[in-house]
Amino acid sequence: MSILKSFIVFEGLDGAGTTTQARNLARYYEFNSRAYYATAEPTSNPIGRLVRDVLQKKVITTPLSLAYLYAADRSDHLYNPTYGIDRILREERIVISDRYFYSSLAYQGVECDKMLIRTINDFPHPEVLIFIDTPVEDCIARIEKRGEEKELFDRENFLRSVRDNYLEELKRLPEGVNLLVVDGRKSIEETESEIRRFLSSLSL
Ligand code: TYD
Repeated sequence: MSILKSFIVFEGLDGAGTTTQARNLARYYEFNSRAYYATAEPTSNPIGRLVRDVLQKKVITTPLSLAYLYAADRSDHLYNPTYGIDRILREERIVISDRYFYSSLAYQGVECDKMLIRTINDFPHPEVLIFIDTPVEDCIARIEKRGEEKELFDRENFLRSVRDNYLEELKRLPEGVNLLVVDGRKSIEETESEIRRFLSSLSL
């Protein structure tokens, strides 16, 4: 099982706060003149844009083809010769990603066969996985407050199953992945400093 050193992944339910925390960590590295690269999945590359079109129902397809699209977007995200994470890590930069293949195991695992989702997501694990654990009710309240047009996945029962899948997958992590589970109900600042303490203990 391979592990990508200096690769930090944020995961959580929609509304959990992964985007805020990933962005704040990037700012912190910026402030400290650390070489880093901040990215997210689905990406803004062509396959990722197609994924977003499916989420916004501009393109209609099946849950299984969507699962393959996420995996294709991820493969490109990792191995693209120009902007691939793999290449950026070799430049000795820290890579921060807002979501990675654990999102597929958790989200696509609700409607598709989990074994198949695991098979098509046989990607290397990150050195650090930060799971922001925010209760479903809080996530729903935040999503509603944002007032964004709801994408396919903003549904309560669905998010409950996603959370169960996440918890199941976190138990299956191989040795060498440093997992931090943070309570997403804490303030942004508290969570942020908990994350920084954890990362600095790993010299990141
Ligand atoms: P997200 O980046 O959280 O949305 P935004 O930045 O637009 O708020 O991701 C979009 C949705 O895609 C989110 O509901 C989670 C879902 N998703 C999957 O279902 N599988 C995946 O593999 C990934 C990366 C995301």
